[in-house]
Amino acid sequence: HERRKPFPNDFLWGGSTSAYQVEGAWNEDGKGPSVIDMAKYPEGTTDFKVASDHYHRYKEDIALFAEMGFKAYRFSIAWTRIYPNGDGEVNRKGIEFYDQLINEIRKHGIEPIVTIYHFDLPYALQEKGGWSNRATIDAYENYCKTLFEHFGDRVKYWLTINEQNMMILHGEAIGTVDPNLKNPKKELYQQNHHMFVAQAKAMALCHQMLPDAKIGPAPNIVTIYPASSKPEDVLAANNYAAIRNWLYLDMAVYGRYNNIAWAYLEEKGYTPTILEGDMEILQNAKPDFIAFNYYTSQTVAASEGNEEDVNQTGDQHITVGEPGVYKGASNPHLKKNEFGWEIDPVGFRTTLREIYDRYHLPLIVTENGLGAIDQLEEGDVINDTYRIEFLRNHIEQMQLAISDGVEVFGFCPWSAIDLVSTHQGISKRYGFIYVNRDEFDLKDLRRIRKQSFYWYKQVISSNGANL
Ligand code: BG6
Repeated sequence: HERRKPFPNDFLWGGSTSAYQVEGAWNEDGKGPSVIDMAKYPEGTTDFKVASDHYHRYKEDIALFAEMGFKAYRFSIAWTRIYPNGDGEVNRKGIEFYDQLINEIRKHGIEPIVTIYHFDLPYALQEKGGWSNRATIDAYENYCKTLFEHFGDRVKYWLTINEQNMMILHGEAIGTVDPNLKNPKKELYQQNHHMFVAQAKAMALCHQMLPDAKIGPAPNIVTIYPASSKPEDVLAANNYAAIRNWLYLDMAVYGRYNNIAWAYLEEKGYTPTILEGDMEILQNAKPDFIAFNYYTSQTVAASEGNEEDVNQTGDQHITVGEPGVYKGASNPHLKKNEFGWEIDPVGFRTTLREIYDRYHLPLIVTENGLGAIDQLEEGDVINDTYRIEFLRNHIEQMQLAISDGVEVFGFCPWSAIDLVSTHQGISKRYGFIYVNRDEFDLKDLRRIRKQSFYWYKQVISSNGANL
């Protein structure tokens, strides 16, 4: 067995959620609709109107997080609670809600980690072109300013945008772009550029307004394997890693377009319009850390240009191919979960090493976890041993990465409590805490501690020594 170094003493053990997936109260207290509220849901799955009803039960939920021993809690603020129309008038009640939430979190000695924007763009902005419209950059910057002003005295860690790379690679699935557009990819890469500029402005503003706070990006980053040692497969993996991972982090950290990704954009005719001054804004902003989400590695092979190599699904964790560049492949060495996602703890260690090798910034894991159909047994028992095994194996590999010299300062798995999955309803559960409701039957929404709750509690109290 390899020797593992202990976790740092101030390691931020915690859990994650996002506003639209956990809060509910979708139109209460002045909240405006987001693109999520207006989206169509896959048949047989619930919408996000009630979700886990955290909006009304946050005190009970935070108390349960505290009981697990959370050192940190990563959640997102719903832009549409603060600005129902994306910009314009501030909604006082929205500010009040997050004031109370943040105070409650801090009361229990938990460090709040705030995602500024997690997929739920205000619908009013979407109607004016969303991220295709440069005005959205200003709306986002103004929204950030309001958050820093109101919550900056109590929030030290900020995340700019959740999984910008998944929004771009799976634009149709996440609703960022109209799938009927003639050239949706060209449009998506224009939106991508605007999000980059928005992120850079947020980082600069945060440093200016809150000198003691820290801010960073939160993409989904995973190691990419070639399907074989065939040189063309290796090249395809190299291309895909640039387009999927490094495009986003090179921009966040160095303020420049990754050369391989840029060559791809040129070849395909997807290059965005860059206005004078944009590159300067991008180069002048620097993150303090890198946050990233990891669920599984991906494997790709060379594509000979076959149109079928595009494998668009509603699932942002399944590789979407690009004819002539790469195509998704499955990894024969990995087992899959019940939703078809591969499970790869060693790939997690490799990912941590790769990111740190490239950027030498402190890392925090803001999502990692197992979606499963849990069974509520008699006596309020949920025996989610599969989730414990998944997390144990990933924490072990994270510890090995730390032993390799990678600087990791926190782990906030998905999800702190059951919530509605992005595309697969509430039945696909991730939490340490069970929420008693079904897809369409809200039941009593009561909170029940799963086996993983007790397990994670002792992981935290032993600072990761007792896995
Ligand atoms: C991440 C998102 O992509 O994966 C979360 O940031 C999401 O919002 C999580 O819920 C798990 O994916 P899914 O599709 O199983 O909910």
